[in-house]
Amino acid sequence: MKNLVVLTGAGISAESGISTFRDSGGLWEQYSIEDVATPEAWVKNPQLVTDFYNQRRKQLLEVEPNYGHIGLVELEKYFNVQIITQNVDNLHERAGSKNIIHLHGELIKVRSERFENIIYELKPENYEIKIGDKCEKGYQLRPHIVWFGEAVPMLEQAVKITEKADILVVIGTSLNVYPAASLVHYTRRDTPIYIIDPNSVAINNPNWYYIKKGASEGIKDLIEILKA
Ligand code: OAD
Repeated sequence: MKNLVVLTGAGISAESGISTFRDSGGLWEQYSIEDVATPEAWVKNPQLVTDFYNQRRKQLLEVEPNYGHIGLVELEKYFNVQIITQNVDNLHERAGSKNIIHLHGELIKVRSERFENIIYELKPENYEIKIGDKCEKGYQLRPHIVWFGEAVPMLEQAVKITEKADILVVIGTSLNVYPAASLVHYTRRDTPIYIIDPNSVAINNPNWYYIKKGASEGIKDLIEILKA
């Protein structure tokens, strides 16, 4: 089977009811990145950061995967599908996709502020963390999120996977955030790249095919194109 690599961003979860970041009404219009998504914010106001991610987790409990996520599971019948997501939600997992890499961390996990390999998965009924919640070594728990200014530990693995892509699909990302956005440049020269997004993203390139639709409609078109 051919390798189908899919890079997803906030737009694939938009139809599930999770706001994107940079569209009008997006999350970064309501909060500033500097206040809630940097290591400096965590030092300056951990309560605000904790509240922000507790709210994101609460919202995640209230939403369901949409056909954008489900269509990618369908594609596993025909391709070796590898998803590389910038999203911190777990909607790809809940839809049933098998191979998922989270470049920017995972909302449902928390980790020790001091020991990055001490990671815990929160239960749905216990989704909130509080200042004072500690790891087994006595250090504060923090969101398992890659904040702006932090290294992206899964990047190397994502690059290796992208280099082996026979087809790359990009869904619902403005390709504004690096290094994630740079992944599109790691494909082989002849690898076709399909972009599903209702708005224009990136640049024109002979190998890039645009499906200018929302994720759930766009994925139906993609399945038809790839099956043909
Ligand atoms: P953005 O908010 O930057 O981009 C969302 C993209 O989704 C845009 O290109 C929209 O046009 C598109 N979109 C909107 N509705 C859609 C729909 N129904 N179907 C498909 N696409 C749709 O989000 P990301 O590119 O994911 O990082 O942002 C990247 C990173 O920036 C995030 O992972 C997050 C953020 O700051 C961290 O928090 C570390």
